[in-house]
Parts: sequence; C-alpha cells; structure tokens
Amino acid sequence: MMLPWSTNNNLTDIQFFNRTNEINLISNILKTTEEGSSPDLFVIGVRGVGKTVLMRKILHDFERDYLVIHVDMTKSNNFQKTRFDRQSFMEFFYSRIIKACEEQDLITFDKKLEKLFKTNDISIDKFIKMGDMPIPHFHKENNYQKLAEFVMDLPQRIYEEYSFMLKGVIVFFDEFQKIKNLNEDLDDFLWYLRSSIQDQGNVAYILSGSMSIYDQLIEKVAGNKGAFGGRMLTIQIKPFSYSTTKKYLTQGVPDLKFTEDGLKKFYECTRGLPSYINTFANLITRDELLTPDMVKKELKINLNVLVIHYISLWYSLTRQEQEIIIKLLEKPLIRKELAEKLNVTTGSLSKPLVKLQNSLLVEKHENKYKIYDNLFNLWLNEYFLENGIYPYYPE
Ligand SMILES: Nc1ncnc2c1ncn2[C@@H]1O[C@H](COP(=O)(O)OP(=O)(O)OP(=O)(O)O)[C@@H](O)[C@H]1O
Ligand SMILES: [Mg+2]
Repeated sequence: MMLPWSTNNNLTDIQFFNRTNEINLISNILKTTEEGSSPDLFVIGVRGVGKTVLMRKILHDFERDYLVIHVDMTKSNNFQKTRFDRQSFMEFFYSRIIKACEEQDLITFDKKLEKLFKTNDISIDKFIKMGDMPIPHFHKENNYQKLAEFVMDLPQRIYEEYSFMLKGVIVFFDEFQKIKNLNEDLDDFLWYLRSSIQDQGNVAYILSGSMSIYDQLIEKVAGNKGAFGGRMLTIQIKPFSYSTTKKYLTQGVPDLKFTEDGLKKFYECTRGLPSYINTFANLITRDELLTPDMVKKELKINLNVLVIHYISLWYSLTRQEQEIIIKLLEKPLIRKELAEKLNVTTGSLSKPLVKLQNSLLVEKHENKYKIYDNLFNLWLNEYFLENGIYPYYPE
C-alpha cells in the first residue's frame, strides 16, 4: 500500500488523514459569510505541513452553494518574470474569477456579465469565447485604477447578481508569498487590497502560502500594524503529532513495521510533516523490522528524493548564495558574522539573503539566519562527507 506523493494537491477522502478540528474550525468561520459578515483568513504553517490540501478539501464542500475562486499565484506566468506588477496581478485574478464562474456553471453568466461591464464604465475590446463563456478583453486604454476597481469589486457584484443561488463567494489565494516579487511598493499594494475588500460582506478571502513563520510578510499582512491587522484571522496549521503519525502509518501502510524507538526516529526525521511522512514511508524498506539505526540508514539512502525540491533550488543559486548556505550549515549566524566569514561587506549580503529567504532555503529569526529545513542541511553534510566537497554551482 502506498501513501500519496507530496506533489499531490488534491487528496481523495481516503487519502486525506485527520485534521478534523481544523476542518471544523475553518468551515465554521467561513460559514459566517452566509450572514453577510464574511471573514478573512491567513492560513500559515511550514512547508509541506498540508495547507494546500487542507484548504482544497474544505473548499470542495463549499462549492455546492458558494462560488469558490482559486488563485494559485505560482500558476501565473507573470509571477515568474520580472514584469510582475499590479496590472498583471489584476489580470491574473480576473482570469481566475472567470474560470471559477465557468467551472461552477453560473449558467446565465454571459448576459449578467455584460451588464456588469456596462454599468462599470469599462471599455471592452471584444468578447472572446472560452468554452461557453464570453471573456471580455480589456481595452488597452483602460487605466490601471479603473481595471483594479472593477476586478476587486467583481466577486461581490457576482454575489449580488446571484444571491438567489449563492450563499457567498470565497477567494483562496494560495502561494501568496509570491506577492513579495511585486516590483512596486508592497505595503502600499497590500493596503490597497485591504481597502477594496473591506466592505465586501459576502466575499471571504483566504491567504496562504509557503513562508517561514518568521516571515515579515505575516507581520505586514496580519500583524497589529499590518494592512489587514485586526481584521484577518491567522490560523497556523501544525505538523501531525506523534500519535497521529502512528495512527496514520498503521492505517495507511500496515506492512511497514517499526520497533517503538524506530518509529520515534521516523517521527524525528520527518518532524510530523505529512509531505515527508508520505514520501519517506513510500520509499523505506518493508522487508525488515525498522530500528532507529535502520531508519537512519534508510533516510540517508532516500535523502535525494526527500529533498529533491531543495536540490533543484540549490543548483539554481549563484556561487555566493551557495557560499552563504555553507557557512550556515554549522549554526545560525547574524549578518555581521556571515560577512566576516565570507570576507565581504554586510551590505553586499542584503540581496542574496533576501533571495535565499524568499526561496525558503534560509529563514531569519531574532536576527539570525538559519537553514530552513534540517533535511536539506543533512543532505549537504552527507554530500560533503561522501565527496569531500560541497555540490557547487558549475562555473
Ligand atoms: N491531511 C493529510 N493527509 C495525508 N497526506 C497529507 C495531508 N496533508 C498533507 N499531506 C501530504 O503532504 C503533501 C504536501 O501538502 P501541501 O502541499 O498541502 O503542503 P503545504 O503546506 O501547502 O506546502 P507548501 O508550503 O510547500 O505549499 C501532500 O501532497 C500530501 O502528500
Ligand atoms: Mg501549498
């Protein structure tokens, strides 16, 4: 028997384990949308803890009487490129709104949509057919402000047109950390987003993404002085506990056999993160009773697969970025110590450190920089032990 791989975004009910409390809590909060006082949520938690699959599972049930708009920010080409500005954000958000309407069969949408456009003084180039849906294409002359107001208002307007069949609208921004790549003032934009959604009583917004729990973005969004401060509820998704992990493995992969200490070692290695639990449990040998030593040995054998995501990031780094990580292998360092070790000025480290934090290789806590993931740390150490050098960027 196998567990789902960690690249799986949509788990079946059988694959999805536990999280009953989180499901109840978040669902109950979201249901207040029906009463016209829609909540805004910030769902955080370490990489691989299961934020995306949890939210998708919850939202799937809401799709019966809500319009649910999924906005996965990594899916937009513009976010990868340098040209990521407010305009591309709005265009992408707009395309996701339309996609949701189409997928969730708002049947008479086209006529009502035309009406929406007319009353909103947005000039339309043409309506392009996408499936059964006519998609309005904006005139180049529309200024950004007009477009932004139109797009940001659209979910609430859709609700108003369809209140006879919808209990509300839910917008789920996943991978929201990509907003940090905006090449315009971020705070300013976050405040703009807040001001444009704050009077929308029937649209709930959920933000989530991969970020360090020390990430400044969390403060910027949901902190006391943050753009959504006081309004946004922050919910932290925790790793599986030891006993949950035990139950999960016993049910999901009954042919895996651990000694009690062996299972404790397995838990220590995976830190209760479902993404690691699944992958490691799928790869680890099933022919033997697993003692702590066996688990350690198996971890080393399978490390390349477990941290594959970090390995590909590693090879995309510059030499200097790699040097920084190597200096952090032993222990967390403040910027000054790092600069001394690398024999450079502290100023020259700003840019690479921001990049390393944004790609979640490094995190900063109480002024110290540390490697985000222990298993990636282990991978580099093991590589060094075996080869006498670190895997450097080919020059
Ligand atoms: N409740 C669960 N039951 C079983 N497996 C789970 C569960 N939650 C997460 N997983 C496993 O962990 C993997 C990663 O989950 P997910 O992508 O939701 O994490 P995430 O917190 O969104 O990570 P990231 O921060 O990288 O976006 C899933 O593909 C799945 O294999
Ligand atoms: Mg995710």
